[in-house]
Amino acid sequence: MLKKLFFNWKMNPASLSEASSLFTEFISLAQSQPQISLVVLPPYVYLSELNQQLQTFEATNLKLGAQDLARYSAGAYTGQISGQMLKNMGCQYVLIGHSETREAYQLSHEQINQKLLQSLESGLVPILCVGHQSDKTITEINYPELSEQVTTALQNLPPEFKTEFYLAYEPVWAIGTGKTATNPIIEEVSQFLKQELAKLGLAKQVGILYGGSVDDGSIQELVKLQQVDGFLIGGASLKPEKFKTIAQVVANQV
Ligand code: PGA
Repeated sequence: MLKKLFFNWKMNPASLSEASSLFTEFISLAQSQPQISLVVLPPYVYLSELNQQLQTFEATNLKLGAQDLARYSAGAYTGQISGQMLKNMGCQYVLIGHSETREAYQLSHEQINQKLLQSLESGLVPILCVGHQSDKTITEINYPELSEQVTTALQNLPPEFKTEFYLAYEPVWAIGTGKTATNPIIEEVSQFLKQELAKLGLAKQVGILYGGSVDDGSIQELVKLQQVDGFLIGGASLKPEKFKTIAQVVANQV
């Protein structure tokens, strides 16, 4: 199966007109590569407009998602956006626990778990991000920390929980640095994550993603990964020539 691509725009671009023209590039990419699945994760404020833009084109392989959601369903939570609001706005996916969000809000494992449960309750597909916060280099992998991130986030799931979801392995030192983890390390960590998921009875429905400096250069090697079902892409998702090359390399994957 071809790898699925998730594009995290983070806090970019600055205006709706820029967001709209960037999204036009994704629409044309989706139309020219119908065999690849693309998910764009723009800032909340552009979702409504981009959803309308998407409705006017035939691009069923392009979906929208959000970068975070509230840990509550509704009520007096100033500044928060609920899963239901996102769903009603045309979102199908939501990022949970990106390392930048974990750090900015000092999120606890319990809070990540609440967000995950909210995503399921709202019918959004979660993309749970995990990565070792404490490690500084390629070869140090803090397996106990990864295990804790996975098992605490996935507590108290509804017993009938069968939906698709994604687990994104993003070593913190690789995000936005131009340095990626090596393929053997990513394969090893992905295998470990699958074992952790199997212990929770969740191995079948989970796709493993890699994120951290995936760009038009690093994709040439990363596309060879066997254990990985897709990529979470940050910086390169703002540069059409880069994300189009990434998609082309994935499309050529045998
Ligand atoms: P990057 O970001 O591709 O710019 O490293 C990845 C991410 O933060 O998800």
